[in-house]
Amino acid sequence: MTTEDPAGAATAADLLRRLHTPEGEALLASLPDYAEEDVIALTRRLREAGTDPALAAAALTQSRLRSRARGRLGPLADRLLHTAEGLEQATRPAVARRHAARFVDAGVEHVWDLGCGLGLDALAMAQAGLAVTAVERDEEVAAAAVHNLAAYPGARVLVADATEVSPDPGDGAWLDPARRTPGVADARGRTRRLFRLADLSPSWAHVQQVAARARATGAKLSPGFRATDLPEGTEAEWVGIDGDAVECVVWWGAAVRDPGVSAVVGASTPEGADWLTVRPVADPPPPLGPGEDPPPFLAEPDRAVLAAGLTASLSAAVGGRELDAGTGYVVAPAVVDLPWARWFEVEEVLPLHARPVRGWLRERGYGTVTVKKRGVPTDPERFRSELRLRGGRGAPAATLVLTRVGGTPSALVVRPLPATR
Ligand SMILES: C[S@@+](CC[C@H](N)C(=O)[O-])C[C@H]1O[C@@H](n2cnc3c(N)ncnc32)[C@H](O)[C@@H]1O
Repeated sequence: MTTEDPAGAATAADLLRRLHTPEGEALLASLPDYAEEDVIALTRRLREAGTDPALAAAALTQSRLRSRARGRLGPLADRLLHTAEGLEQATRPAVARRHAARFVDAGVEHVWDLGCGLGLDALAMAQAGLAVTAVERDEEVAAAAVHNLAAYPGARVLVADATEVSPDPGDGAWLDPARRTPGVADARGRTRRLFRLADLSPSWAHVQQVAARARATGAKLSPGFRATDLPEGTEAEWVGIDGDAVECVVWWGAAVRDPGVSAVVGASTPEGADWLTVRPVADPPPPLGPGEDPPPFLAEPDRAVLAAGLTASLSAAVGGRELDAGTGYVVAPAVVDLPWARWFEVEEVLPLHARPVRGWLRERGYGTVTVKKRGVPTDPERFRSELRLRGGRGAPAATLVLTRVGGTPSALVVRPLPATR
């Protein structure tokens, strides 16, 4: 967020601009990896060396943000300038490269990144050889984006409201609308996420206006986006990486390859990521009906597949059936090794009541439970406490799946099977 100082001191954006100078970069490069308790000594050292205290504080903040960013952005984190909120919203490099490749394949030469944040998507586009105009209304975030894109002469940053610029019809447009409420933090201190289309900035209506005009458009939305909101003729790709569902991207115009929905499941590699695509299947096997006994193995699709509503593709791939429509759990007679499914062996199917589950678990000496649930309104924490298991340290743990089996609310006791790859 841009800060204004009534006394006329440097704003946060000014400080980032100073860190983008050779003097600022040298200062950043001189900072060691440090622990919280070293900050005072380090600040004193910088002051004694004559560093402006405000610049020293900004450099120390960057150093902390860089170390926080390494998990998400890899070694690239150390070449970028960050803001805390910008970092939370930044696209991972392997995912950003997929976005850029779409525009290259669509044949556009210039992409407008309308709400570019720190510029991770814009950077991947520039690296893919596209000209990029990155638009950002927050002056501090834009100052970071200027630094992050500086190595690419074909990329420029405009500090502007993205709804007031208009891409040429032959250009591409990329929108990754902000989905959080600035300044509203969750219990872990992260900016609260917003999942409603109505809360996007730029708005969903604006995204669609841009898409109607540009040659190729992509919009990164929450993985909570519902396929029922998908505009006619577009393509939606739910993307997951390393087990997390990270986004749903909607593509318009020349960026569309296959209209409709798919899930893309990625596994990080030292070079980036390996991806595979899961698509809807024609005539998937029906879910279990009332009174049908579930086969002995249970599979759960990757979160991106689940978010895309493609559980039926898992049923088809493993010769299984969903436990009930919309539960997202598939049961099959045998394990079929797939990188986008996790398997469990079903030990018992019990009614969804604490008493029979408690009896079953106690009889077998289980002292704690991991509770998974989908498709029933049960509160898992409450159910766990109703079990009144008195497991101490080292007590055997059971895994419970609370869901519906052929329409009946049930508790399945399952045993996780080791992944074979
Ligand atoms: C989710 S972030 C973009 C992250 C970016 N794709 C990346 O990977 O680094 C969205 C950004 O859009 C900016 N934004 C929101 N509404 C805007 C508007 N009307 N004009 C310009 N920028 C806007 C926010 O300030 C925020 O930095």
